[in-house]
Amino acid sequence: MPPSEAEIASLQKHATEAARNSYSPYSHFRVGAAVLLEADQRQDGAIVAGTNVENSSYRLTCCAEQAAIACAVTLYGPEIRIRAIAVVNLNGAACTPCGACRQTILEFSTPETIVFYPSASGETVSTTLAAMLPEAFRLKP
Ligand code: THU
Repeated sequence: MPPSEAEIASLQKHATEAARNSYSPYSHFRVGAAVLLEADQRQDGAIVAGTNVENSSYRLTCCAEQAAIACAVTLYGPEIRIRAIAVVNLNGAACTPCGACRQTILEFSTPETIVFYPSASGETVSTTLAAMLPEAFRLKP
């Protein structure tokens, strides 16, 4: 089921709050992400957020989406499924999930998983993960 207006607003709020905690002394690009989970036996549609955590050895940087997903798995276990994910930044920039993050989202996605992100014009747009990551790598078909 697509997220309601209230769920979308809450996702955006959680992502923005997480971005305020960004550890980004190298890029100064403050990113937040929040995942809305499908209800299961352990939670009733929880929202879990994360922010980017950079490192002086640049390639060790953790993206906000990956932080949010790692936190969601930590809290609610390996069976989580993502109904929707919102990505925001405090830099007023366009920001789609990077390729690595798309693959990470895929791991816990459904064919309907929706991604919200800020476009170049500044407005929030949405698409499906399937549209963002066609021909995705899958270990098992
Ligand atoms: N970043 C994210 O958190 N998510 C993305 O999908 C793209 C990039 C972060 C990583 C780094 O801390 C900063 O943005 C600049 O690349």
